[in-house]
Amino acid sequence: MKQICVVGTGYVGLVTGTCFADLGNKVVCLDIDEGKIARLQRGELPIYEPGLEELVARNVAAGRLTFTTSYADAVPDADYCFIAVPTPSGPEGEADLGYVRAAASTLALYLKDGAVIVNKSTVPIGTADRVDQIIERHLPAERRDIRFGVVSNPEFLREGAAVADFMKPDRVVLGAVRRQDAETVAELYASLKCPILITDPRTAEMVKYASNAFLATKISFINEVASICERLGADVRLVAEGMGKDARIGRAFLDAGLGWGGSCFPKDVKALAHMAAMSGCHPQLLRTVIEINKDQRIKVIQKLREALGTLDGQTVALLGLAFKPNTDDLREAPALEIAHLLQSEGASVRAYDPVAMEGARRALPDAEFATDAYDAVTGVDAAVIVTDWNEFKQLDLGRLRGLMARPVLVDGRNIYEPAAARAAGFLYFPIGRGGVEPVK
Ligand SMILES: NC(=O)c1ccc[n+]([C@@H]2O[C@H](COP(=O)([O-])OP(=O)(O)OC[C@H]3O[C@@H](n4cnc5c(N)ncnc54)[C@H](O)[C@@H]3O)[C@@H](O)[C@H]2O)c1
Repeated sequence: MKQICVVGTGYVGLVTGTCFADLGNKVVCLDIDEGKIARLQRGELPIYEPGLEELVARNVAAGRLTFTTSYADAVPDADYCFIAVPTPSGPEGEADLGYVRAAASTLALYLKDGAVIVNKSTVPIGTADRVDQIIERHLPAERRDIRFGVVSNPEFLREGAAVADFMKPDRVVLGAVRRQDAETVAELYASLKCPILITDPRTAEMVKYASNAFLATKISFINEVASICERLGADVRLVAEGMGKDARIGRAFLDAGLGWGGSCFPKDVKALAHMAAMSGCHPQLLRTVIEINKDQRIKVIQKLREALGTLDGQTVALLGLAFKPNTDDLREAPALEIAHLLQSEGASVRAYDPVAMEGARRALPDAEFATDAYDAVTGVDAAVIVTDWNEFKQLDLGRLRGLMARPVLVDGRNIYEPAAARAAGFLYFPIGRGGVEPVK
């Protein structure tokens, strides 16, 4: 049984730790957030992630998974120390490495001889070297001669499908200076029977940024095509179908909408552009990808203005707040940006999300919150579908329309058929589907 310490018990750390426990390892999940650890110790999950609660309970009961705030308790026995702390955007778009540095320097105080430090956080190219140096510098004087390895193991899981993604990864990427260190980490993944790519650390770090930047580019690409479709009278959904049938293109990530958000794409695309610029490249594609994404939020406001005239004094319902379905994560969620834009134009916001209400109340103190989609639209001048939760796909459009003061529906995720929405009496504004609807 391997002993694993996971530093940072957030979306990545909790899933990683729990899944490694489920694979038969002994795992301690460590976090500096005492409230989070106290909740986990009481058996409560601090995040919403389908399937995770049962998995945590099973592994805690089996004695393979524990939670602590103490490095001194968690690290000395660990063969592997995973770092899964945040790497948020700094003021220039750079990845802020402060949490990684803090984690590495504290780990160094308790590390056992032969331990491997595994970077799971998404980190700038060259971070594995830095972590190595930080640990070297912070080793206590009496243990200066211990041996340790640093491996870059970027994480590709998707919130909302994180457990399945961990258990059935498309690939595991391991970057190390010494191949032996990467192979030691590969042993942990052996039972998953997935492709394992071993590279140098910088390449592994770049695989993560390049993957996220490519997916964001695909979304921004289809959003640009959607804008052109809207002007020229084509239907972007069918365009995406037609494109997606081409095996060289693929249908995934070709859904036009309000653009990408979340804890990864925005900061990772910005960080890659920043690294590129700082190293003398001119990242014009990445910059445009970011710009197109920003425009998608503004387009909602334009559609609402077109339908309502001024937004001042109007009430708009936002259906869905999480940055995508099946998560409660609100980081860089389009809903928050749209809510702020609406409020800055003098509109009031009524909002509802199936799971993200707790965080949303903190993020949007001036919004009103509803108990379900029908409650959210009651008496409003317009509704915007922001997140394509399944429960919004089966709404009774006639009832929805009847509850609203004015019949304006912006379908930011193209979940309804225009004919059905119009038949229900809506002035319906999808994204990129057959031109702009005339204002009545
Ligand atoms: N969320 C995702 O879907 C996802 C996917 C792939 C990669 N990543 C990357 O993984 C990293 C973590 O992301 P996340 O979404 O899990 O973050 P998160 O904010 O959900 O969790 C990070 C946790 O680390 C803790 N922490 C901070 N400093 C610490 C320290 N010094 N010691 C111990 N704990 C500390 C925080 O309290 C927090 O609980 C980021 O680099 C992110 O880019 C995230």
